[in-house]
Amino acid sequence: MKILSEKFIYGGDYNPEQWLDEEGILEEDIRLMKLAHINCVTLGVFSWSSLEPKEGQYQLDWLEDVICRLYENGISTILATPSGARPKWMTNKYPEVLRTTEDRRKNLYGGRHNHCFTSPVYREKVAKINTQLANRFKDNPAVILWHISNEFGGECHCPLCQKAFQTWLKEKYKTPENMNHAWWSKFWSHTYEDFSDVESPSSIGETGLHGLLLDWKRFTSDQTIDYMKWEIHALRMAGAKQPVTTNFMYNIPEANYTKMAKEVDIVSWDTYPTWHKYEGSDIEVAQDNGMQHDFMRSLLHKPYLLMESCPSSTNWQSVSKLKKPGLLHAQSMQALAHGSDSVQYFQIRQSRGSSEKFHGAVIDHYGKEDTRVFREVRKIGEDLESLSEMVCGTTTKATAAILYDVESRWAMEEAQGPRNQGMYYKESVLKNYKALKRMGLDVDVLDCDGDLSGYEIVVAPMLYMLRSNIEEKLKDYVENGGILLGSYFSGVVDENDLCFLGETPYGLCQVFGFRREEIDGLYDWEEKEFLPVKGNSLGLENIYHCSHLFELEKIKTAEPLMTVKGDFYDGYPAVTKNAYGKGWAYCVCGDGEEALYNEVVERIVDSHNLYSPIEGPLEEGLVLTSRESMEHKFFFLQNFSYKEKTAPKELEGRLIYGDLKPFGTAIYEITKLKTL
Ligand code: GLA
Ligand code: ZN
Repeated sequence: MKILSEKFIYGGDYNPEQWLDEEGILEEDIRLMKLAHINCVTLGVFSWSSLEPKEGQYQLDWLEDVICRLYENGISTILATPSGARPKWMTNKYPEVLRTTEDRRKNLYGGRHNHCFTSPVYREKVAKINTQLANRFKDNPAVILWHISNEFGGECHCPLCQKAFQTWLKEKYKTPENMNHAWWSKFWSHTYEDFSDVESPSSIGETGLHGLLLDWKRFTSDQTIDYMKWEIHALRMAGAKQPVTTNFMYNIPEANYTKMAKEVDIVSWDTYPTWHKYEGSDIEVAQDNGMQHDFMRSLLHKPYLLMESCPSSTNWQSVSKLKKPGLLHAQSMQALAHGSDSVQYFQIRQSRGSSEKFHGAVIDHYGKEDTRVFREVRKIGEDLESLSEMVCGTTTKATAAILYDVESRWAMEEAQGPRNQGMYYKESVLKNYKALKRMGLDVDVLDCDGDLSGYEIVVAPMLYMLRSNIEEKLKDYVENGGILLGSYFSGVVDENDLCFLGETPYGLCQVFGFRREEIDGLYDWEEKEFLPVKGNSLGLENIYHCSHLFELEKIKTAEPLMTVKGDFYDGYPAVTKNAYGKGWAYCVCGDGEEALYNEVVERIVDSHNLYSPIEGPLEEGLVLTSRESMEHKFFFLQNFSYKEKTAPKELEGRLIYGDLKPFGTAIYEITKLKTL
């Protein structure tokens, strides 16, 4: 049975090794999984001590037995390599495998993900166990996908990593002089004579050389990817041909996912939103989570997998909140709506002890099917099965792209610039994203490496660092008729985090029609007002607040659509518009409130006639996304509010699924081509 990319995958992390000595558990779990329409489980995450209890003594029979018994019952396996946690024998004998913290403390055994990505011993042990797994399962049809390790992240400052960092720097800069220049290291006399002098950043050492901090982050990300490739290589060398994935995380700053995604066949990620924070907060959470879904889809521009989500309460959050009836369904359908070909949970059977014994599960400690959560899980299983044939494998063609660049984020967070108590980069991206979603647009989330062609609008909030020639790409994009919406604190530094000299936003002054003069950091209590300019050509009408940051622009050719009030810079432009080539560039010059972005984006969509399946904004609480194949287009309309909603009248398509009750999802289908 082939399920990957032909059928929605439904299942989750399953740890039968915790139950091997309990009679009848596996049979019961299989019965329950079948009842819930589960067709796949993820095995082996953190199973190393059961697979290799003593060094070199491999025990894979139990795993093969479980895999085969599941498969006989219609349940495939995503097989993880076990390197996310390690057996005690390894650290007893090879302490080098453990991480060293930034203040140069060697970690003790314990926890998970506590390993050095550089350690040759760790790499060797991982290669050996991966080889064993590949030898055993490479031809097993039950195993459809390899899951490499678990949630890569973190950093290690051990002597091995220091050495690897120095080598990485040498490859990059060739000479210490080049490095010194890129790091502007004459500042405070921090010049290096040799690469071997360099140490990783530390709170008891270097924190001020921004180029070094940035390169350390790049190195850590590269080293993590290199390690992951090593794991994949071991599987491939042993003949495993199944595709590989690794489970990404929500908004993490530790790895460049654009680069990492290039090394896997399928992107997958784990989502644990904090729902029900307060009345009305679920729509916010849904949009934030939706942006992450869109980011994951945009990495390879094809269907991805939801690898983990929680069926009930997530016990590592500050409050372990139950999901209200219907919310799990909405959360699961949201993954589909944004382009996932799976819904998977952590965990199928709730562990009995240790740190996740109270984490939600499909099968809880009670162990039977007559639970609220199980009923909901089962209903989702039925629905996925019924939608699978039509929707699985379809993709999203987005009208809009938004740039969210992790390297720029790294640099901005260390900038010691206009605000050291929150620059609100992600929040600013999210405000723009929500404004686009409010107008019913599908949005791809890209970084500076992204290809901008084909989008009707590109939004580039707080594009602090320019790399990968993004300024040229944006210029060409607008010149050829594109619509750009940018904002303050853009085009400030180059890829080494060196400030551009001369006019900024670097390379984009003509596109935006102004140059930045100064930027003001606002105290938390401080607000400015944005006032519409009478008769402005975008038709902006309302007054908004601005907080955190305001940038003073010197207008050249741009039209001020709004101006600021409330300081010595009274009357400075607050929102601008500029014609460039065949296109238009807009800019928001300060951290405006959400409603400002809503009005600006709404007017842009209207005045440039950008494609949207709806006319005017969506009602609050609704989210619209689409997926399509050559023949069909599907609109997913989701209600994340507590009140029943109605669909916009002009939304085309035949209702093929669901409704818009609270937490409801409705799917509409359009036939693009008539098939004979
Ligand atoms: C992460 C991990 C899982 C599990 C869940 C719990 O996503 O990958 O192993 O710990 O969190 O929410
Ligand atoms: Zn290390």
